[in-house]
Amino acid sequence: MNKGAARLNEVKASKIRAVSDKANALEALGRSIIRFSTGEPDFATVSSIKQATIQAIEDNYSHYASNRGDLKLRKEVSELVKCHHGIHYDPSEEILITSGGSEAINHVMLGLINPEDEVIVCTPAFLSYENMIHMAGGIFVDVPLKKENGFQLDIEEIKEAITPRTKMIIINNPCNPTGAVYDPVSIQALCDVCIQHDLLVFSDEIYDQLVYDERKCRSIAAYPSMKQRTIMMNGFSKAYAMTGWRLAYLCADKELIEPLLKVHQYATTCAPTFIQVGVAKVMNNETTRKEVQEMVRCFDQRRQKVIRVLKEIPELDFVIPQGAFYVFIDVSKTGLDGQQFADALLEEKGVAVVPGNALGSQCNDFIRLSYATSDENVMMGMQLIKEFIKEL
Ligand SMILES: Cc1ncc(COP(=O)(O)O)c(C=O)c1O
Repeated sequence: MNKGAARLNEVKASKIRAVSDKANALEALGRSIIRFSTGEPDFATVSSIKQATIQAIEDNYSHYASNRGDLKLRKEVSELVKCHHGIHYDPSEEILITSGGSEAINHVMLGLINPEDEVIVCTPAFLSYENMIHMAGGIFVDVPLKKENGFQLDIEEIKEAITPRTKMIIINNPCNPTGAVYDPVSIQALCDVCIQHDLLVFSDEIYDQLVYDERKCRSIAAYPSMKQRTIMMNGFSKAYAMTGWRLAYLCADKELIEPLLKVHQYATTCAPTFIQVGVAKVMNNETTRKEVQEMVRCFDQRRQKVIRVLKEIPELDFVIPQGAFYVFIDVSKTGLDGQQFADALLEEKGVAVVPGNALGSQCNDFIRLSYATSDENVMMGMQLIKEFIKEL
């Protein structure tokens, strides 16, 4: 008897986890592995946040918080979003604190997607979208983005994918895995499409502070008439190096937040109280801001090192990433597809990357390389990739 619920039938195991498992197995045999496969900062959590949270534990913030999240944290989130995007979200009813971005995605799908609703996802994309759409009983509609367009939004293809059953479009800006920051003209065009077809937008902005070359990432919610149809998600995992803390937030109009609150109330009750209290105390102060900026500066230096080496390898094609901490690389000129490349690189050189087929249906020729690892690893890993290709 298949004991799993039928709603999980189309939910697939993560191929990224398969890469980690292989890397772990090699490490257990004594091999040293450079992990360009990991989607999390190698830095320690911002120290001001650590200190404030230790204090919150000492001060006994160990009871339930409000289902919406600690009010002081919601106020600070509101201030941050206002400062970065110029949009006001009312802390009392337009912000919901969640246990990480993944939980936020879960709440949005369970709270807003009905069985048979279609949800458009521009791919390659973070795996949770497709799988959470399936878990909610929705229909995942894949719109592949193209390297030739710099992995920018393809508005004509998005328009073609819309049917009377389309309820939502998901965008992730800056994008994991392409590093693209969507250009404002295409975002405006997307807004026009969403308004014309009365669609919701789920905007995952978890990398919005990690942008380079003086770029700015303005939320789609800040475009005219978009706040009322956008659910914005952001969190602390990436920019504050807090992946294990599990803290994120959703911002939207009251009518959109209410169903998400219902899911959150029964699924989680609240994110850990002392974490919320600690983060609220310092997240917008100067010390925290400077620590985040310093991490962004380090990511940028690594990004530039990676780009420099990639440019020396004619067999590898890529679009220069402008945000997040990934490069999406076309390896087809090596004669291998992304899966073969990733498997052989790990086996022969001990360098772990994610095959593109884990992230998009049209990405068999690609690998994702994350430069969220130490400077030494970046330098050594890139040299090993160079060697690997020479020896092919
Ligand atoms: C685009 C994107 N959204 C959401 C998440 C999930 O973030 P969290 O660790 O807060 O659950 C990730 C993590 O890799 C991500 O890359």
